[in-house]
Amino acid sequence: MASYLQSLYSDPDKYFEAFKVYQHRSIAMFDQQWKTEWETIIKGLSDRGVVQPDHDVRVLAVATGQGCREQKIIETLVKVVTASSFHVEIIEPVREQLEKFKADARNMTAKFPSLSFEWFENTFEGYMAKRDKDGHDHKFHLLVCVHGLYHMDDWTCTVDRFYDLLLPGGAMTNAISSGESGCGKLIVKYRDWEGNRADLLTSHDIASYMKTKELNYHVYVREDAIDVSEVFDETSAEGNMVLDFLVQRKHFRKYSPEDLLTKVLDFVKENSREENGKHYMSDAEVEIVVIKSK
Ligand SMILES: C[S@@+](CC[C@H](N)C(=O)[O-])C[C@H]1O[C@@H](n2cnc3c(N)ncnc32)[C@H](O)[C@@H]1O
Repeated sequence: MASYLQSLYSDPDKYFEAFKVYQHRSIAMFDQQWKTEWETIIKGLSDRGVVQPDHDVRVLAVATGQGCREQKIIETLVKVVTASSFHVEIIEPVREQLEKFKADARNMTAKFPSLSFEWFENTFEGYMAKRDKDGHDHKFHLLVCVHGLYHMDDWTCTVDRFYDLLLPGGAMTNAISSGESGCGKLIVKYRDWEGNRADLLTSHDIASYMKTKELNYHVYVREDAIDVSEVFDETSAEGNMVLDFLVQRKHFRKYSPEDLLTKVLDFVKENSREENGKHYMSDAEVEIVVIKSK
């Protein structure tokens, strides 16, 4: 059903426009929680002896966009861990996003002389193909992927390759939408309604896969909520972008069959709470952390 609905990511300009609007509708109040959790993840690298003061620490950050979160992680790493140098490989296929990251990175390397970056304007799949072709086999202490698994050609294969890329004791981290929140439940329902799973993943999928691979993992859950009030106003350009981002489909209101649109809007209405005339739907992200066995 409705397989002609296009993925939002098929049009990167529209995707990043909608992503920005969606982020602005988030009430995200987990900054302090996030900071504490990331300090714990990073301290774990020293505590396990994976990173030592004379080491060159290697980090791989995949699907970074313009790298807002990734920059904070790198800065925490450089501040918390004692090492001789830090080298970060960045993979992001959309040039405009990568250029924004590069501009910020110049300030970071000026502030932290032991830090260097290497840039790959590529998909993860493209990066791996090039790496295999060039015969590179270096591994990483830390692999960071913040909301990046959704658009991979084959996310299970990606998770396997992420794990292979780690040094023993190294950490693989994936932030992903929680399957427990209102937004996550909508994703699960929607992919059944549309009959197409493309770009619609939740933490449940990743966690189940980790279990089948018998990988031990730790999860951090960060609660959030999205202001979805304008989604009900068909004349609101920003409301329509939030709607597109919720179901990851381009111009969803315009091209969706009537019954699918009704199901989605009813779900959002029934699963949102009203406060001071606004509607909020619960959202959450889950950080899934796997430590490579020694
Ligand atoms: C939701 S955004 C996350 C961006 C950033 N990590 C953040 O949390 O703000 C998903 C990112 O994945 C990138 N992406 C899509 N397909 C990819 C692929 N096959 N390999 C690597 N990155 C990909 C997109 O260009 C986009 O920047």
